[in-house]
Amino acid sequence: MSSWAYLLTAGVVSWVVKAIYNLYFHPLSRYPGSKVAAVSSSWWEWYWNYYHNGRLLFEVERLHQQHGPVIRIGVNDLHVSDMAVYQDITKVNTNFTKDPHFYQFISFPGTSIGETNPAKHRVRRKVLTPALSGTRIQELAPLIEAKTIQLLGRFDESNASGSPVCVTAAAKAFTMDIISKIVLGQELGCLTRPDFRSELSDNLNAAFETGWIGPSFPNVSAVAMWSCANMTEKYLKRFGPGCQTNGQAGPATQEELRPLTVSTGRGERSAVIDMLMDPKAVKGHSLPTLEELSDELAMLLTAGSDTSSNAIISGIYYVCHHTNIYQTLLDELKEAFPSLGTDITYENARKLTYLQAVVKETLRLGHPLPGRLPRKVPAEGYTLYGHHLPPGVNIHTSAYILNRHADIWDRPNDFDPTRWLSEDAATLDKQLTTFGRGARQCLGKEYVFRPACCHRSFPRAMLTFGLKLGFMRVVGSLRQPLSPLPSDAYP
Ligand code: HEM
Repeated sequence: MSSWAYLLTAGVVSWVVKAIYNLYFHPLSRYPGSKVAAVSSSWWEWYWNYYHNGRLLFEVERLHQQHGPVIRIGVNDLHVSDMAVYQDITKVNTNFTKDPHFYQFISFPGTSIGETNPAKHRVRRKVLTPALSGTRIQELAPLIEAKTIQLLGRFDESNASGSPVCVTAAAKAFTMDIISKIVLGQELGCLTRPDFRSELSDNLNAAFETGWIGPSFPNVSAVAMWSCANMTEKYLKRFGPGCQTNGQAGPATQEELRPLTVSTGRGERSAVIDMLMDPKAVKGHSLPTLEELSDELAMLLTAGSDTSSNAIISGIYYVCHHTNIYQTLLDELKEAFPSLGTDITYENARKLTYLQAVVKETLRLGHPLPGRLPRKVPAEGYTLYGHHLPPGVNIHTSAYILNRHADIWDRPNDFDPTRWLSEDAATLDKQLTTFGRGARQCLGKEYVFRPACCHRSFPRAMLTFGLKLGFMRVVGSLRQPLSPLPSDAYP
């Protein structure tokens, strides 16, 4: 036998021995689930997420229905469908941490989302909090109003020319323009483009798409993530020549970044960059290099735009598909804002209980970040239903599954805003997992709930097009030409 044949045989034998160990002797072997995943989660994930186009979560749901609240979905990975466990592993001061292996495929190390070291994460979170606070977002209300009017103007143009409009692309452009203003200090201008796209947002999307194949082809994923950071870095460099010098040097030149952060060179400011480049922002904060800055900005652009636009698209979809809900919402809006000239502010809109309920229900069922989000069992181990789990095991949970858990939600798959008007609403609110919980919960939550998408754009869109064009019917099928409803549709 040649040495190659020996090597090959040894490789196959070692793989088989490992597979047998993983299946029958591994500490997780007691758990039911996917046998393929227990041997190699990479190919299992590739099969469901890539070959079957992102259907892994549905397979996880099916396995839970078959086997109960705990299933094995990887060599070292369990998926749990139990609110008590979710709350335990995500509570403030938990010793569970993010799994670096998983997060390298969907984020950058060291960023607000990707940092897995709790102490370092605390500092980064503190630095960013003021830049994404409710107060800061409130200051951006005029921008959001202007963007909403611009978006609706595009729909008007489509109506006038009888051409179709892709509401998905439009919603993504709307949120990307707002988020880029918050994060970069200037809009990408997607809403002004005929196809609602920009080079930077296209590249960010393309790079993060590879998250689907990340676990199976880590190198491809790494190249995509690198190119994604590179794109943002290139974009940052356009801000001014000072930035280019800064990016290539060490601590001495980091101070030079200060002028850049105060102004992007066009008289605009980014509170996010300002905070990140302020050495005194928070104790323990060290100035990021240009590369680290790009990483954080790329993460924030992606975290903030895709999630919010998906929420808007889901909201439109659900309201369109429930005539009674649509009518109730429209009635409430018409009463609160009798004419389009009425000032649609967050303060006014938040008093509308049915609108609030529609927003909440959209966030429950639309779950822009459906899952799964793994947490690593700490050094002391963890007891799950009476069984000890060793350190290093990952416990995954998913908003898609918990937000539809039959133990918590009555008729879980029904889009029913009235559940948020019941006496149980406060209790239900504590069970909503859309934004995560604890120290790692979403930092942009305020942005979503405050004046942004939901409370300004939604009412204005409904009133403008509900009254003039039958907006909801138009977007019901996402690629239909805009056309007015019969004149008697809205008395
Ligand atoms: C409907 C919209 C949104 C949803 C559903 C959402 C959901 C989430 C979830 C579930 C997490 C936890 C992720 C994890 O555990 O790995 C998260 C984290 C985060 N989100 Fe959001 N998000 C939304 C919008 C935004 C916006 C607009 C921003 C602002 C730029 C933002 C910034 C962040 C950041 C910085 C984190 C990391 C927080 C940390 O670990 O300290 N998100 N988000």
